[in-house]
Amino acid sequence: MTQPDVETTHRRVALPQRESRNRHPGGVLWFTGLSGAGKSTLAFALEECLFNEGYQVYVLDGDNLRGGLSSDLRFTHIDRTENIRRAGQVAALFADAGLICIAAFISPYRSDRAIASTNAKRFHEIYIRADLTTCESRDPKGLYRLARAGEIENFTGIDDVYEAPDNPAFVVDTTELTIEQSLASLSGFVAAHFSLRASDG
Ligand code: ADX
Repeated sequence: MTQPDVETTHRRVALPQRESRNRHPGGVLWFTGLSGAGKSTLAFALEECLFNEGYQVYVLDGDNLRGGLSSDLRFTHIDRTENIRRAGQVAALFADAGLICIAAFISPYRSDRAIASTNAKRFHEIYIRADLTTCESRDPKGLYRLARAGEIENFTGIDDVYEAPDNPAFVVDTTELTIEQSLASLSGFVAAHFSLRASDG
């Protein structure tokens, strides 16, 4: 059955109008990295910082997606792929609505991230890098300990792979930088790619 083209049939507010009102383009900042690397911590800190500067910004992460839209999914390969497919689609809708969407997901498989990257016009893959030993020593939720004890299956880095990005747009190494330094470098990246125009009035 042919689907009607909703975009051209009904849309009366165009993206440039949204961008003009917001004073910046929409887009996706896709944070990938191991559990415990600092993705969500940095995502929420960056969200606050950008919000205070006047950006329209929203964080999507494992917690807010897996509690609702992806509540039917677990951590098998096929379920993670589906989780990232949904996250990629939602992030692209936020970008299309004119927001900067910070999407913070382990997203361990390169091919899933590659698909997500095709959904949004402005998509930047950002590698929040920390080695497994560091993440395991941080173990903020105690999940590495449970995974080592065999009480959690398919845990990324323990009994499931993490495919690091080959060519990320930006890297933040949280083993070398403090949270404040990481945040400052991310803010610089955003300023370079989503500059905030002066307001007209
Ligand atoms: S992803 O692989 O599909 O991208 P997502 O980012 O949504 O994962 O969720 C990861 C979070 O779920 C982790 O930070 C951790 O708190 C929790 N979690 C629970 N089980 C696992 C698991 N088997 N592997 C990785 N993370 C898990």
